[in-house]
Amino acid sequence: MTTKTVFYSVMGHSRTVAEGVASELNGPLFGLSDRFTARPSGWKRAARRAVRGFDLAVLSTPNVSFDRGDKLVLVFPYWNGAIVPAVSGFVRSVGLAGVTVFLVMMRRLSGGDELISQLEDDVVRQGGTIGGVFSLRTLWRVPQRLRSLGSRLGRQIGGKAQGALLSLQELLEGAIEEEVEGHARYLQLVERTTRKRLKATFRSLSADEAAHVQMLQQLYRAYAGIVYEPHRKATASSSPEKVLDDSALLQELSASVEAERKAFMGYRAIAERYSSQPDVVRQMLSLAHSDLQHYRDVKGMCNVLSRRHSKP
Ligand SMILES: Cc1cc2nc3c(=O)[nH]c(=O)nc-3n(C[C@H](O)[C@H](O)[C@H](O)COP(=O)(O)O)c2cc1C
Repeated sequence: MTTKTVFYSVMGHSRTVAEGVASELNGPLFGLSDRFTARPSGWKRAARRAVRGFDLAVLSTPNVSFDRGDKLVLVFPYWNGAIVPAVSGFVRSVGLAGVTVFLVMMRRLSGGDELISQLEDDVVRQGGTIGGVFSLRTLWRVPQRLRSLGSRLGRQIGGKAQGALLSLQELLEGAIEEEVEGHARYLQLVERTTRKRLKATFRSLSADEAAHVQMLQQLYRAYAGIVYEPHRKATASSSPEKVLDDSALLQELSASVEAERKAFMGYRAIAERYSSQPDVVRQMLSLAHSDLQHYRDVKGMCNVLSRRHSKP
């Protein structure tokens, strides 16, 4: 579990800050370079054109790779647009599963929201989690001051707890597995009860879980590019054909209450962690809302049954 600092710098500001971060954290430092790094004549005009045209061109990526649990501090300039070619190209070329990423944007004065949101999106798509976003002004700041700002940032990042070790894609895979299991569990309950009203409720719950799977698959596809194939075996009942007596039904329902509680809490946590992704937040809050309702419904059924069961 290492904190790796990677910078891209043409005029030296980002490099100085990155050096301050890396030396404070006693971690490795890597520099990205591309056709602008040596400042060929007219590079600023060419850089502006590259940013406008989303042109990543050729970059030289240092030999850096990441392990689960690592932190990445990425220090880069703002170039008045949604990308900085070398930085965007780098993020899109590395695996960041289980890595917590800190973005440090350097700018002369102001701007940069579009670059930050684009990079946050790229990081999440590569499996990373955003640990923090910082922007530093370079105007009137001498190298010594920038280096000490870098050290201060290093202390702040070093003090942050190790972030999420699962990527968004992995969290969605887990959620799909759980919803598939829930769907199967409610379907079994339809078969194993003779009461009409309960049957109808279980049927509606199982249909909802199937709809949740569809929603999750759409989101998963948007981030992973493929549909997820669930592989966990559904927890098959020992005798699926047998009608449940009240006490066995109560036991099954308690398991569902716990699963629904875990689900809505989990969806809320994902929404909070990926707050930079509006589509993720929207879907997760909608799923959390639906599973909270399931939780209340099933808990209500449990209470009624246990009251009936405890009557002499
Ligand atoms: C093509 C280009 C566009 C820039 N646009 C902005 C801008 O819109 N706002 C700003 O505050 N700084 C802007 N800057 C200034 C840089 O963000 C700033 O100088 C940065 O610290 C440079 O980082 P470096 O020294 O590590 O290369 C621009 C610089 C370049 C080269």
